[in-house]
Amino acid sequence: MPPTNPLHETHILLGVAGSIAAYKALILLRALVREGARVSVVMTESATKFVAPRSFEVLSRQPVASTLFDETDPMPHLTLAEWADVILIAPATANTLVKCAVGFADDLLSTVVLAAQCPIILAPAMDGGMWEHPAVVAHVRTLRERGVIVLDPEEGELASGQIGRGRFPAESTILEAVKAQVCRVQDLCGQRVVISAGPTREPLDAVRFLTNASSGKMGYALAKAAVARGAEVVLVSGPTALSPPAGVDYIPVVTAQEMYQAIMSRFPWATVVIMAAAVSDFRPRESAAGKLNKQEWYGKTIELEPTIDILATLSRKRTHQIVVGFAAETHDLLTHGREKLRRKDVDLMIVNDVGSSHSAFGSDDNQVIILSRHGEVTHTERMPKIRLAQHVWDHILRLIQARPSTPALSCPESNPRT
Ligand code: CTP
Repeated sequence: MPPTNPLHETHILLGVAGSIAAYKALILLRALVREGARVSVVMTESATKFVAPRSFEVLSRQPVASTLFDETDPMPHLTLAEWADVILIAPATANTLVKCAVGFADDLLSTVVLAAQCPIILAPAMDGGMWEHPAVVAHVRTLRERGVIVLDPEEGELASGQIGRGRFPAESTILEAVKAQVCRVQDLCGQRVVISAGPTREPLDAVRFLTNASSGKMGYALAKAAVARGAEVVLVSGPTALSPPAGVDYIPVVTAQEMYQAIMSRFPWATVVIMAAAVSDFRPRESAAGKLNKQEWYGKTIELEPTIDILATLSRKRTHQIVVGFAAETHDLLTHGREKLRRKDVDLMIVNDVGSSHSAFGSDDNQVIILSRHGEVTHTERMPKIRLAQHVWDHILRLIQARPSTPALSCPESNPRT
């Protein structure tokens, strides 16, 4: 298989649910393997009543996974979710589809879906009346709003003998959807990205410091998404408990000054800079080299001096770069976000609510307002940070494409792993 095929060496997790169309998943599996994909199959229990797992094992040359309680892997749902570049559930029954929308995790397939951060495609197959049932219609809408690709089933003769919309989509339609997701992740190729993440620490003495509650998760999610979409990424991170995503050039820093130096030295190289870090606005005017003891601290006044505003400096010094900021706000999000966008002169400002019980700090989910310098306002719903990162990149990509001087970025038909 020539490596120019977009599916070559791509990891596809094929979920098979209990529908009469399960036998068509065998034909689909053959086609995926022929395209060079590496396919792992997860079957629901009812799917195994329609087709024997052995058939999938022979065609995929991999054992079929169907249980959460694997003797060799204590957490198969996490292993599979991490492994997959794309999850394709084909056929997706009404039950599986609704479970994905609601977030049920009562078998291996639904649990993998809940743990996954990669694109998810559902190819439904069910009776026409079920596809049109208001419950299914509402859950399909929810899934699509969340970014899950739900293909439309085809119209024709159904298993019941009736004519209706509910037939398993054509193989070519499903393959196209999978390729589109794989190629979509290459739409940032040619981009050189610097992302800051996490808090900074400003030392008071050798063991004490001023900092904030930022976990770094949003910045790391942006870095991971950018790498997956083909960008070269430098991640400049304050101290966090996270492991750097694979494929980034990772630069750990501690203070705001170190972060400033690390970013500025890479700024001429960059095409996009995102300041997702919660940079300390102030640092102690003095900090002791050793540890001060209790007596020495007693009654001491800590004087603060401002740190450099990295984002505002980047905006002032930019030549060709797109500059994106984050605004951490507790109230009047829109007003403060707009004011900060103007003051820091950025192309996009991502406004976070850090005050509510749903505070962005530390959480795996987030909900933001994306403001552009041209006045566009996009309110996102609450979603996992990795999905939110994809939305932010979609907005940045539009800015990149709107730039007259941007050379046409070609997407080599390679997959994310080559
Ligand atoms: N920022 C920065 N350098 C600083 C402080 C903040 O680059 N010294 C960046 C942050 O990374 C973020 C944006 O500025 O992208 C806004 O940060 P935020 O803390 O919301 O605003 P501040 O400028 O600190 O203003 P305030 O604390 O008054 O809201």
